[in-house]
Amino acid sequence: MRTVSSFLLLFTLLQLLLNPIFSISDSDDPFPVRREVYGNGRIFDITHRITSDMPSYGSEEGLGQFLWLPNSMKNGSLANNSVMKLPTHTGTHIDAPGHVFDHYYDAGFDVDTLDLEVLNGPALLVDVPRDKNLTVEVMTSLHIPKGVKRVLFRTLNTDRRLMWKKKLDSSFVGFMKDGAQWLVDNTDIKLVGIDYLSIAAYDDLIPAHLVFLKSRETIVVEALKLDDIKPGIYTVHCLPLRMLGAEGSPVRCILIK
Ligand SMILES: *[C@@H]1O[C@H](CO)[C@@H](O)[C@H](O)[C@H]1NC(C)=O
Ligand SMILES: *[C@@H]1O[C@H](CO)[C@@H](O)[C@H](O)[C@H]1NC(C)=O
Ligand SMILES: *[C@@H]1O[C@H](CO)[C@@H](O)[C@H](O)[C@H]1NC(C)=O
Repeated sequence: MRTVSSFLLLFTLLQLLLNPIFSISDSDDPFPVRREVYGNGRIFDITHRITSDMPSYGSEEGLGQFLWLPNSMKNGSLANNSVMKLPTHTGTHIDAPGHVFDHYYDAGFDVDTLDLEVLNGPALLVDVPRDKNLTVEVMTSLHIPKGVKRVLFRTLNTDRRLMWKKKLDSSFVGFMKDGAQWLVDNTDIKLVGIDYLSIAAYDDLIPAHLVFLKSRETIVVEALKLDDIKPGIYTVHCLPLRMLGAEGSPVRCILIK
């Protein structure tokens, strides 16, 4: 058994090295390789793949169908052109200030106004204690140095693989209002990332969002995929879509070692 699995592992590694885009199977049909890590272990995809089985806010049944193929080659079109429909706060996504402040929404503080400099740059990935939500006590215990601008918090949510479960689980770990307030008042953090659909714990859902988004200086990234990545310093790149008027957007985020 052991030799077979090491052989398979070696084979997969060789495939990855030799065929960055397609692997060749026994037949001549190419098939896509889906990866979480690129560039010989240097680039980590920390974005969740959007699937109909992923959890979605306000749904007990997961995201459900989000892609349709009105024009398909199977029925005579020249090309396949699909259409998507999904909540803007789906999967790995960002919140714009208009998400929880109606006057910001009306004034146009949408995802297109978010600062790309905040969304891209050096970032700290930290593990937090697994037995608490993100309170002021937890925040002070982390001793995040002044000057750190971007922090991704890995929590019990990752251990519980909550983003891989279809049903929304409201017992997820998130910020309590006091933890959020402490972070805003006492650190230089402008990008706050977390590993489930909401930065705020369910019990403080709106209050903690309000604290983060009030100044319009802090950008919140939610539902990051932080499995199997060592805590430490990386460069993060997050690029939301430029949707005029949208108070949220799915985002592709990567970490580079
Ligand atoms: C092609 O198939 C889709 C999906 O079944 C359907 O909605 C569409 O009308 C079809 N188009 C044509 C030209 O038959
Ligand atoms: C085109 O659409 C068909 C379904 O009609 C699908 O089976 C096929 O894989 C698609 N081709 C490409 C190139 O995506
Ligand atoms: C975090 O808070 C939620 C309610 O918002 C609760 O269900 C959960 O048990 C708490 N998690 C921990 C680790 O204390």
